[in-house]
Amino acid sequence: MKKVIVITGISRGLGKAMTDEFIRLGHTIIGCARSASAVDKLTTKYSNPHQFTCVNVADEKSVREWATKTLGNYSPPDFINK
Ligand SMILES: NC(=O)c1ccc[n+]([C@@H]2O[C@H](COP(=O)([O-])OP(=O)(O)OC[C@H]3O[C@@H](n4cnc5c(N)ncnc54)[C@H](OP(=O)(O)O)[C@@H]3O)[C@@H](O)[C@H]2O)c1
Repeated sequence: MKKVIVITGISRGLGKAMTDEFIRLGHTIIGCARSASAVDKLTTKYSNPHQFTCVNVADEKSVREWATKTLGNYSPPDFINK
């Protein structure tokens, strides 16, 4: 069954690897990182329904705005990888 998965740190390393693999398996990824260039690259590579946003998870206001926007556009996530 296809899942909606939130992943923080999608710009490189484990977060990027999980993003590529979960999308390959048909899941929807909602991801964030601080690197605007990495977010832009993923947005170009993987379009709708996936969503990649520049968010610093240490900034509570940004995280709150990201969560509000996400919950307005998607069903509640099935998994959160942070
Ligand atoms: N979602 C996850 O489950 C996840 C993802 C990645 C790493 N990790 C954990 O991190 C450790 C090292 O993994 P790794 O070798 O893959 O690390 P890594 O190559 O250093 O990657 C860390 C990721 O986290 C992002 N990141 C760091 N600080 C952030 C912040 N304040 N706000 C938003 N994103 C931030 C980085 O992107 P920017 O620099 O562009 O912000 C990058 O995408 C492991 O213990 C692993 O479990 C977990």
